[in-house]
Amino acid sequence: MKIKPDWVLPNLREAQKRTHQPIQTVDSFQIDETMQFLGSGKTYYLSTFGCQANERDSETLAGILDAMGFASAPDEEHADVILLNTCAIRQNAEEKVLGEVGSLKRLYRENPDLVIGVCGCMAQEEKLTNILLEKYPQVRLIFGTHNLQELPSMLYDVMMNHKRVVKVYSKEGEVYENLPVHRFGKHKAWVNIMYGCDKFCTYCIVPYTRGKQRSRTKDRILAEVRQLKAEGYKEITLLGQNVNAYGKDLQADYSFADLLAETAQIGIPRIRFMTSHPWDFSDAMIDTIAAYDNIMPAVHLPLQSGDNEILKQMGRRYTKESYLELFDTMKARIPNVAISTDIIVGFPNETDEQFEHTLDVVRYCKFDNAYTFIFSARPGTPAARMADAVDHETKQKRLQTLNTLWNRFALEKNKQYEGKVVQVLTDGASKRNADVWSGYTDTNKLVNFTGTGIHTGDFVNVQIETAKTFSLDGKAVL
Ligand code: 5AD
Ligand code: SF4
Repeated sequence: MKIKPDWVLPNLREAQKRTHQPIQTVDSFQIDETMQFLGSGKTYYLSTFGCQANERDSETLAGILDAMGFASAPDEEHADVILLNTCAIRQNAEEKVLGEVGSLKRLYRENPDLVIGVCGCMAQEEKLTNILLEKYPQVRLIFGTHNLQELPSMLYDVMMNHKRVVKVYSKEGEVYENLPVHRFGKHKAWVNIMYGCDKFCTYCIVPYTRGKQRSRTKDRILAEVRQLKAEGYKEITLLGQNVNAYGKDLQADYSFADLLAETAQIGIPRIRFMTSHPWDFSDAMIDTIAAYDNIMPAVHLPLQSGDNEILKQMGRRYTKESYLELFDTMKARIPNVAISTDIIVGFPNETDEQFEHTLDVVRYCKFDNAYTFIFSARPGTPAARMADAVDHETKQKRLQTLNTLWNRFALEKNKQYEGKVVQVLTDGASKRNADVWSGYTDTNKLVNFTGTGIHTGDFVNVQIETAKTFSLDGKAVL
C-alpha cells in the first residue's frame, strides 16, 4: 500500500486526547455548486451496522446524498454508490463488515465505476483502515465519524478525479447543525442530544471513535422535537452515549432532567432516551420520568458486571451496591418501569466467583431485557493490554449460563402480561402475513398481534394471549 500525501489516516492516540477547548458549533453546511448534480441519474445504497448513533448518522448521509441528486437504490446490485456505516464495539462487528466488503468485490469487478465506501467507527481505527487499504482495493472511499459533512467533496474526488479517498479525523469533534436528514422512519425518530463520550471505560472504543462528549444546545434540540411533532411523529428517542451527562459540557445550568421535562411538554406521545450510565443518573431524572405520561417507563441501565473489583477495573465509577440502590429507587418511584441492561462476561481474569456476583445481581434485578457480550479486546484501550488467563471456552459457557438465567426471568416477566391489554405503537405488518402486525409497548416489549384495519404508526390496544421470552402475542381489541 502506497500512502497518498492527501490521505488523512486515523490515529487512536490523537483521538484519545481531551483538551479544555470550547466546543465549536458549525451550521454552515453547503454543497458546492459543482457537486450539487453529481448524483443525477445515480443511486446509493446504505448499509448500517451497530448502534442508534450510526442509524442516525446514516440518515444524515442519506440526506446529503439526496441533496446531491442521488436516488436511493433498493439493493446493492442496483447502486452506483454503496456506503457501509460501520461499528467497532466488538471484533465480531468488524468481521461482519469485512465479510460484506469482501462479497462486494464481485460487483466492483463487473462495474469499476462503482463507489464502495466504508465509514463510521471502524474507519477510526488504524488497524482496520490499513486492512481495508491493503486487502480490499474495491474500497475507494474511507471516512470517519467526524467527516460526514465532507461527503460531497470526497465523493467528487472519487467519482470525477478517480482518486482513492481516505479522510479520517482523530479529534474531539464539533457539533454539526443543519446537516440534511433523510429520516428512515415515518412515525419514530432519533434525536441526537449529544455526541461522543468522556467516560473511557477501560474496555470501550467509543471515546476514541466518536470524540469528546459534546452536547447540542437545548434550543436546537427542542426545535427539532417541535418540528418532528409538527410532522406527525409519534415517538422520539433522545440519543447520546450517556444522556445523563447532557449539558455538563455547556455553560448553562440545565440538566438532562430539565431537557426531558421540556421535551415531554411539547407533547409527542412517546419519548424514550438512551443510553444512561448508572453513575450520574440523578433523582431529578427519576422524578421527571415518573411525572410525565409520555416519557416511557423503560430505562436501559447497563450493569456490565456485578462484581465490584471488575467494575473498578472497567472504570465504571459505581459499585454493585450503588447500582442496586439506584435500581430499587427507580422501581419504587417509576410506576411499571421496565429496566434493561448490558452485561459483559469474561473481562480479563474474571474469576468464577466474580462471574457469580454478576449472576447474583441478575437474580435480584430480573431484568426485562439484557444484551450480553463476551469481552472483546479493542486495540488501543487499557483493557486490551491486560493479560488474560481465562480461555474462550469458559467465557462462552459463562455467556450461556447468563443467557439461560436472564431469559428465564424475562419469560416470567412476560407471562405477567398474559390476559392484559397493552397499548402498542404499530411498526408494520409481518412480511409473511399481512394480518399480523408488530410494535412495542410503552415498556419496550415487542408485540406481534392480529387485527384488521390497522396502519403503520397506529396506537392499538392489544390483548396479550401468549408470552414468549422475547415477545408477546395477542390480538387487537377496541
Ligand atoms: N467487549 C464486549 N462488549 C463491549 N461493549 C462495549 N465494549 C465492549 C467490548 N470491548 C458492550 C457494553 C456496552 C455495549 C454497547 O457494548 O456492554 O454497554
Ligand atoms: Fe463506552 Fe463507557 Fe462511554 Fe458507554 S459510558 S460509550 S461503555 S466509555
